[in-house]
Amino acid sequence: MATSSSCVVISDEEQGYDLDLFCIPKHYSSDLERVYIPHGLIQDRTERLAREIMNEMGGHHIVALCVLKGGYKFFADLLDYIKALNRNSDRSIPMTVDFIRLKSYCNDQSTGEIKVIGGDDLSTLTGKNVLIVEDIIDTGKTMKTLLELLKQYNPKMVKVASLLVKRTPRSVGYRPDFVGFEVPDKFVVGYALDYNEYFRDLNHICVISDTGKEKYKA
Ligand code: IMP
Repeated sequence: MATSSSCVVISDEEQGYDLDLFCIPKHYSSDLERVYIPHGLIQDRTERLAREIMNEMGGHHIVALCVLKGGYKFFADLLDYIKALNRNSDRSIPMTVDFIRLKSYCNDQSTGEIKVIGGDDLSTLTGKNVLIVEDIIDTGKTMKTLLELLKQYNPKMVKVASLLVKRTPRSVGYRPDFVGFEVPDKFVVGYALDYNEYFRDLNHICVISDTGKEKYKA
């Protein structure tokens, strides 16, 4: 695992960890190949991202916009770390939260069509500093579409924090402002990332097995 100044880079050769070294729900024991990013490492990286976000955006009221459902764990933990910084610093800012629900995947493939299927009225973002919090950027199409959509509501500033970015030839070239980990082009689950709604109830980020793909196929 290498580090760069902008994120932790997980190489294509990274083997991850044997499932038996960690606590995995029994109902998923044959559905996963390896533990890829253990929960503790996600937490430690998120703590650091919180500091970077506050350094860049901490001058003004932030609206943190969670992209559901995959972003909810990262969102909750990131906000906890930002709140801890606010509690323990002489300089602190109010933060409000908002939610949006998007859907673009069936099985492990992007449908290429992004649907907004829930969330508040986005006009509340007009004139605000918005921090979009997402689980993973794969092709980048979802985020590009969301950014286009938000533009219509004239926010003052928009920054994007994504826990993961996939290295993929299918990328449209979009790169978020804050990235936790850059990962190889594999389908990953856990820590709220799903495969057809399964595996959100798993703490670690893991690589799904062929058995898992078959079992939970849509
Ligand atoms: P994009 O539009 O191709 O960037 O896809 C982004 C969305 O696809 C994410 O918000 C996820 O919901 C989903 N996604 C992409 N790759 C994965 C993965 O490896 N595991 C789980 N969900 C994924």
